[in-house]
Amino acid sequence: MLVGDERLPADLSGYGGIFHAAECVLACGDGFGYPDGKGAAKLVIDQKTLPLPWSSSVALTVSDIRFLFEQYGDVAYSGEPVTQLQHALQTGALAEEAGADDELVAAAFLHDLGHLLNQQGETPTERAVDDLHQYFALPFLRTVLPDAVLEPIRLHVDAKRCLCAIDDAYIRQLSADSVRSLALQGGVFSRDEADAFLLQAYAQDALRLRKWDDQAKQRDRATRNLSHYLGVVERVMSKGSIVRLSAM
Ligand SMILES: [Fe+2]
Ligand SMILES: [Fe+2]
Repeated sequence: MLVGDERLPADLSGYGGIFHAAECVLACGDGFGYPDGKGAAKLVIDQKTLPLPWSSSVALTVSDIRFLFEQYGDVAYSGEPVTQLQHALQTGALAEEAGADDELVAAAFLHDLGHLLNQQGETPTERAVDDLHQYFALPFLRTVLPDAVLEPIRLHVDAKRCLCAIDDAYIRQLSADSVRSLALQGGVFSRDEADAFLLQAYAQDALRLRKWDDQAKQRDRATRNLSHYLGVVERVMSKGSIVRLSAM
C-alpha cells in the first residue's frame, strides 16, 4: 500500500489506523490543545482517501510541536525509565550519531508524536490498548513534511514486527512493554509479511529508526535540547518540496 494511492483499497487494514485515529481526535474534547486537529480528522473520515488536499491551516507548525512537547513531554514513556520528551530527544540523538540526514533525524525525533496527540495514560498496553500512535500524527504533518520523514514514522511499528521475524536476537532485547505492545500490534510478521515489508519505500529507514527507538530508553542520558531538534524539523520544513511516494 502506498500512502499516495488515492484509491481506497478493499482491505482497509492499512488505512484503518488513520480512520480510528481520526475518530479519536474527533471524540477528544479540546483537540489536545490543537483545535484544528478536529477539522483534519473530519476530513479524514469524510473523504476516506489519502492523500488529502488539506489546507495548510490543519498542519502542525514547529510552535505546535514545541507546545505538545512542553505541555505533555513529561508523561512517562510506557513503563520505561524515560519521559516522552527524553525518549524523543534520545531517538533523535542516536539518529544524529549514526550520521542520518535531517529527514531521518526529524523522523526519529517525531516518531512517537502520536502518543502526545492521542493520550492513553502512561502504559496503555497494560489495559490491552493499542493507541495506533504510528498513524496519529501523520494527518497533521502531511502538508509540511516529506515522505522521507512521514514514512519511517508510519512504518516504525511494523519495523519491529519485521525485525522480530528476520533477526533472532532482536526479540530477546525488547523491553517488557515492547513485547506487550507487539502482541497488540499484530505480532511477529510471517516470513512473507516481512518480505513484503522490506519491499516498501523507506523500509530500511524504518528499520534503522526502530533500533534507535529501542535504545532510546536510558535514564539520564545527555542529549541536545528540544530547540535543537525543532530546528532540524524546521530545516526540513523550510526545504519546501514535499516529496510524495505517488510522485516517485
Ligand atoms: Fe512508537
Ligand atoms: Fe518510541
